Amino acid sequence: MDVIRKLLSHLGEYKKPALIAPVCTLVAVGMEVLIPYVMAMLIDQGISKGNMDKVWLYGGIMLACAVAAMAIDSASAVFGSRASTGLASNLRDVLFEKVQTFSFGNIDKFSTAGLVTRMTTDVTNVQNAFNMSLIIATRAPISLVASLVMSVIISPSLSAIFLAALSVLSAALIFIMLRAMPLFGKVFARYDNLNASVQENVTAIRVVKAFVREEHEDQKFTDAANDLHDLFVKAEGILAFNNPVMGVAIYGCIIALSWFGTHSILAGQITTGQLTSLLGYVFNVLISLMMLTMIFVMVSMSAASGTRIVEVLEEEPEIVSPQNALTKVADGSIDFEAVNFRYRTGDGDGEGEETLAGIDLRIASGETVGILGGTGSGKSTFVSLISRLYDVDSGCVRVGGQDVRSYDTEVLRDAVAVVLQQNTLFSGTILDNLRWGNPDATLEECKVACAAACADEFIDRMPDGYNTQIEQGGTNVSGGQRQRLCIARALLKSPKVLILDDSTSAVDTATDASIQRAFAEQIPDTTKLIISQRVSSFGSCDRILVLDSGRVAAFAPEAELIKTCDIYRDVYETQNKQGSEADFDELEGIGRDPLSQRFDPAFANELNNMPSTGKAGE
Ligand SMILES: Nc1ncnc2c1ncn2[C@@H]1O[C@H](COP(=O)(O)OP(=O)(O)O)[C@@H](O)[C@H]1O
Ligand SMILES: [Mg+2]
Repeated sequence: MDVIRKLLSHLGEYKKPALIAPVCTLVAVGMEVLIPYVMAMLIDQGISKGNMDKVWLYGGIMLACAVAAMAIDSASAVFGSRASTGLASNLRDVLFEKVQTFSFGNIDKFSTAGLVTRMTTDVTNVQNAFNMSLIIATRAPISLVASLVMSVIISPSLSAIFLAALSVLSAALIFIMLRAMPLFGKVFARYDNLNASVQENVTAIRVVKAFVREEHEDQKFTDAANDLHDLFVKAEGILAFNNPVMGVAIYGCIIALSWFGTHSILAGQITTGQLTSLLGYVFNVLISLMMLTMIFVMVSMSAASGTRIVEVLEEEPEIVSPQNALTKVADGSIDFEAVNFRYRTGDGDGEGEETLAGIDLRIASGETVGILGGTGSGKSTFVSLISRLYDVDSGCVRVGGQDVRSYDTEVLRDAVAVVLQQNTLFSGTILDNLRWGNPDATLEECKVACAAACADEFIDRMPDGYNTQIEQGGTNVSGGQRQRLCIARALLKSPKVLILDDSTSAVDTATDASIQRAFAEQIPDTTKLIISQRVSSFGSCDRILVLDSGRVAAFAPEAELIKTCDIYRDVYETQNKQGSEADFDELEGIGRDPLSQRFDPAFANELNNMPSTGKAGE
């Protein structure tokens, strides 16, 4: 009930059709209920007495009632679907708007697939149920009661047959429903799983193909679909008993009515016409009952969907801007004070290991910091705390000397640009995508940013240059190109803090180095945090943070780390000795000591003049 009220509160401008539809139905039902009654008069006063005038009169009234009922019924159908599609569209709107306010934590809770299902399938379920209820939920009970009343008026004794049939039928239908209902509940749970698996597979279709897993995935899907099919057949199979039960009830009533009715006619208690109209009411009553049970099924089936929608609507965004939020970020300094953080997965919160523990460090504005650590060591988590994608559990993260929780989140995220590990481009032109960073950026500014991110050379080679269309999800650019576009997009924000989360992993080392160099030249005052798996990316870094299982293993300049930090020395030595990097880097042999070559202009020139540096990223 509560769920229904909450869903209906989003009816908005569609309240009117939602009211008109049942009113129309009401009028139509009134007309329909009149028809058998008028027929009785037609038979008794017209046909039986051979009075042609009465036949014409009552015949005309019946025809008028039928036509009017039909017309009003269609109107109610139109208004009903207008109201229900309107409700659905409003619900999708508010859901979408709500999801935009979600923090990463909120999204983790529902999962992306879950949110998609809620916005599509669940809304459609609610829409259908609402449409049905608007029309049938008013029609069935009214028609049932009205027909019953009319029959009692005609003949109280014969109506007893109705009531007997009605109670038997209700019992049977309720029994069937109770059996079918749990099955439908299960059907919907499986349907959800199927949806999630479709979403996952279609999103990851490239991976599936690359691993030649099509058949396996296909089989998995077929199994899931068959499972669902079997359950559905079982549930519908139980529901199918409705029809024979209804048949027995209707024909039983007709036989009983005919039997007792003829006796009553002979006894002079009722007329032939009245018996005929009673038979008409039998159909009305029993069919209304059938419809009622159908609505019952529909509504309870969509109740689950409704609950799931309301869950999203009522979810509190974990991260909101405070009142009197700060609207200016002073500088790009970053302080972590005794920060602890752990992800809340599912509903159980706060069990298991801390993802980050006891992080305490200070980064000066304009400093360039490299971050190194094994996968799962908490690097991405560390940087996501800076732009407040998640909130710390204890301790405090400061940007520009102020707690991140005191800023307006929009201001903070404008000042802290993050190129996420799983970065995405959106469908639109390259220019459109770049202007995500700054809607007012001129073409010139975009070109400068792209030059810094080393994206200009491949954009210039594209047929339409900056107006090249990017496919949905950025599928028509390579991984390395996408990374560089995302970096350019972040640069256009002219942020105070720039964070690259493994954002040059698909870019060859030489390009990587020139991107870093451009950063040093063009945005010297911006604090730069660079997460990378390869030590060569830390070329221009003042200090390097080494994370190990969510703890700070070391935080010092590279030269010192090589001496004091075992983890760093190991990584450094393996990568430099064997040239064992993922990309086939021809420059590997040029300088063994990265420290001495980094700021050496000769080396920089050499880099620039290498014509054949493997464009591993393209
Ligand atoms: N959204 C998330 N929900 C739950 N756990 C997560 C989430 N993201 C990361 N983790 C877990 O937190 C730990 C650190 O992850 P992450 O910061 O991404 O590591 P890194 O970037 O160093 O590879 C990992 O154990 C990972 O499984
Ligand atoms: Mg990561």
